[in-house]
Amino acid sequence: MRRLLIAGNWKMNLDRGRSLSLVQGLVESLRNTSNVDVAVCPPSVYLGELGKALHGSNIGLGAQNAYNQPEGAYTGEVSCGMLKDVGCQYVILGHSERRAIFGETDLMVNEKLHAVLAAGLTPIVCVGETLQEREAGKTQQVVESQCKGSLAGLSHEQMLKTVVAYEPVWAIGTGKTATPAQAEEVHKDIRELLGSLFSSETSQKVIILYGGSVKADNALELLSEPNIDGALVGGASLKQDSFLGIVQAASSVKK
Ligand code: 13P
Repeated sequence: MRRLLIAGNWKMNLDRGRSLSLVQGLVESLRNTSNVDVAVCPPSVYLGELGKALHGSNIGLGAQNAYNQPEGAYTGEVSCGMLKDVGCQYVILGHSERRAIFGETDLMVNEKLHAVLAAGLTPIVCVGETLQEREAGKTQQVVESQCKGSLAGLSHEQMLKTVVAYEPVWAIGTGKTATPAQAEEVHKDIRELLGSLFSSETSQKVIILYGGSVKADNALELLSEPNIDGALVGGASLKQDSFLGIVQAASSVKK
């Protein structure tokens, strides 16, 4: 049985005061939630302070990116060791915005993935097709190629420690969610691919999140699909009520 994970990707949003009050509100409200894993991934400048606010709570802290080297002359970058130092447990890698705006390739994502795992952090590796690719009937091909490239060279043990997030680019920030059936189809493909790359036993244990306009009112039907193990939430993670609504939906899912 896979535990559901609900992770909020705040992207480059919220200021210091609003970050802190959101985290304090979540800590208080989720004190008794134990059947779902929850994490927030704020902008990196707030990680240290929010790590302290989350200390001792049941909410994990994640970064939105990391560099593949442990230290050195890499102006503007942050290492996995530094993220761990301030209390991070998770690192989002290869988000479509990083791929599209900052030119991240599968190879770069893969190098970061190995660094994140070596530091003992949990990577959340994002994959997903654009609208053009979906309309050209290339969804499976694109997602499989991103998975193979991004997850290259992992041992079975490392794959088990890696979370995959399927985020169709056309559903991100657009209000257009993939239907539960559309999302499930790709999640099932990803799990089958992991089965062929690793083993069926390993693939059955990997957490595969869905991301793309997940809201409190569509979370339950998405999360009820057999191969959807949680959500990577953008816009709806910025407000306490909407994020809590998604966590509550996850908490009530029976599979
Ligand atoms: P939205 O939930 O705002 O569509 O963003 C999804 C996302 O990109 C999460 O990483």
